[in-house]
Amino acid sequence: MRHLITLADLKQGEIERIFAITEDLKTKYQNGLREPLLPGRVMALLFEKPSLRTRVSFEAGIINLGGHSLFLGDDVGWGSRESMADFGRVLSEYVDVVVVRTKSHEKVVELAKFCKCSVINGLTDQDHPCQALADLYTLRELTGSLAGQTLAFIGDGNNVARSLAMGCGKTGMRFALAAPKQYQFDAEFLAQLKHEAPDLDLLITTDPREAVKNASAVYTDVWTSMGQEAESAIRRQAFAAYQVNAALLKAAPADVFFMHCLPAHRGEEVTDEVIDGPASIVVAQAANRLHAQKGILAWLLGAQGQGRE
Ligand code: CP
Ligand code: NVA
Repeated sequence: MRHLITLADLKQGEIERIFAITEDLKTKYQNGLREPLLPGRVMALLFEKPSLRTRVSFEAGIINLGGHSLFLGDDVGWGSRESMADFGRVLSEYVDVVVVRTKSHEKVVELAKFCKCSVINGLTDQDHPCQALADLYTLRELTGSLAGQTLAFIGDGNNVARSLAMGCGKTGMRFALAAPKQYQFDAEFLAQLKHEAPDLDLLITTDPREAVKNASAVYTDVWTSMGQEAESAIRRQAFAAYQVNAALLKAAPADVFFMHCLPAHRGEEVTDEVIDGPASIVVAQAANRLHAQKGILAWLLGAQGQGRE
């Protein structure tokens, strides 16, 4: 059974296959066709944190594909009413795929062990693979090809940054992270990255200007992620020199794109001028969450064939 917990779960050819399905489904959607590739399939969502993009794009996506969505609330008692093993074994008797947004990464890994259907990570404290796939798809759509391009991430080396770094490593892109030392990637993740993407050209620096110098896209995310609210004052201070503003974009190539997974904390990690400016592709990224989610679902559930690369 295939799961999508991190981008380490996918080979380069599989990412390309998902992009090809995404492209096909997006073109059809734009031409008014919602191809029912997954009739009768049922997707359950288990979310421990709020969501607009991930929840709605997955729910709309499975409906576009002819399937159904069940958003499960607290009353199903995940983690409280019965063991994870009993929960996962029973839930996966009813549904074809489970999308999970958890506080701790271990919880989604644990659930996947017991599910006989596919489990998709819809964000944990460590990873956001569906976001990274949609983002790389967006860049590929705008530039034609990913290989050799540099994605510069300015800010917290957290879930989104980690998934993007892994995604860059799997698609021949370069990745640059500018963050204060204590918010850079930890040794365990660096070892995993090295193992999964040995050829990744990786720059880690405390200097945002160095990171953006050759970037095709400059990406940022909130300084305080969901669940870290108690640290927000200290994080605001630590990241004060890491705001993506007009001055920083001037240090990047003239045709650079600005990217953000959203939601944004305007005035903190990014200024209004940049996020609303001509370089910004944040709405295109969010829009592509729908198409990429459909690509992932069609690929994972087999309608477009995991084996047909
Ligand atoms: N980018 C993203 O995952 O947004 P949501 O938290 O709204 O799902
Ligand atoms: N790093 C952010 C991403 C939100 C999509 C968070 O975890 O809150």
